[in-house]
Amino acid sequence: MGHRLTVASVALGAVLLAACAHGGFVPQPTALDVERLQPVDPGYSLAELQAGRAIYVQRCSSCHAVHGPGEYRGDQWAGLVARMQREKKVKIPEQDRQVMERYLVAFSSTSPRAVDGGVGGGGQISSASR
Ligand code: HEC
Repeated sequence: MGHRLTVASVALGAVLLAACAHGGFVPQPTALDVERLQPVDPGYSLAELQAGRAIYVQRCSSCHAVHGPGEYRGDQWAGLVARMQREKKVKIPEQDRQVMERYLVAFSSTSPRAVDGGVGGGGQISSASR
């Protein structure tokens, strides 16, 4: 039992390490992200954001390291994805593309930051959520 657990955590560690070795920072969505997105779009759900991230990493990391969603503005992502589809022949089912783009926009540089929890200035929380 204890042995199995160790093997599992080593494997998880390796996966996390591999993910971090890539260039862009591709944040894992949390419930806090759903909350900060409420004012702009109450339609976001945690499950959708997680699915969007998974699709992004799966479809967009084969040729180059994935770019961090925060490297671009929200209004740039649709164009970038369209260009990859057109010029690089990247295949993504239409539904997946929509879910993926919603994730990218949610974590883009123009997405609203988490509101301050009421302690101290807003700076800390907003930088932590990047
Ligand atoms: C078939 C290979 C391939 C796949 C898959 C791919 N890309 Fe690219 N991507 C490239 C190449 C090559 C470049 C280098 C710039 C260029 O040639 O336009 C690039 C550049 C980029 C850039 C930098 C933009 C710029 O102006 O330089 C972004 C952002 C990007 N890709 C996003 C994506 C996204 C999002 C996906 C998934 C939909 C994706 N890529 C999948 C080949 C690919």
